[in-house]
Amino acid sequence: MNTLKKMNEQINHELGSSYIYLSMAAYLTSKNLKGMAAWMHKQANEEREHAMKFFEYLNERGQAVELLAIEKPKNEWKTPLELFEDALKHEKKISALISAIMETAIIEKDYPSIAILQWFVTEQVEEEANASEIVEKLKMIGEHKGALLMIDKELGARQ
Ligand code: FEO
Repeated sequence: MNTLKKMNEQINHELGSSYIYLSMAAYLTSKNLKGMAAWMHKQANEEREHAMKFFEYLNERGQAVELLAIEKPKNEWKTPLELFEDALKHEKKISALISAIMETAIIEKDYPSIAILQWFVTEQVEEEANASEIVEKLKMIGEHKGALLMIDKELGARQ
């Protein structure tokens, strides 16, 4: 079924997301923005959990999982704002991919997959909102270093 095939590909996109966020965490650490780095580490872990949700679901459906190659992520940004703008852009791409799998599941009347995908649709709203909020805050503070450190501290408190 195409839905399950696309879910297999989505494992790759979720692990790719994890890899991108890990690269962002490495960059932020190198810039001494440890709170933002911690936030990104948590995000990277969440993406791995997303991949595992699809992985386990495919196992339950008796579909063999085939892991695909993960691209080398970008590792340099001009500013934290540019980095979080990239994260937001990336989440929008992931949302579009989830929607495309949902459309296939609906066409195939694959109701169990629709139920699983509904969780991801809701999750993507939160993922985009979180990234967007940080982008807006970073835009607001501009070049203000003190405010940047405050945001860094705030993001470091993410549970
Ligand atoms: Fe797994 Fe950030 O979407």
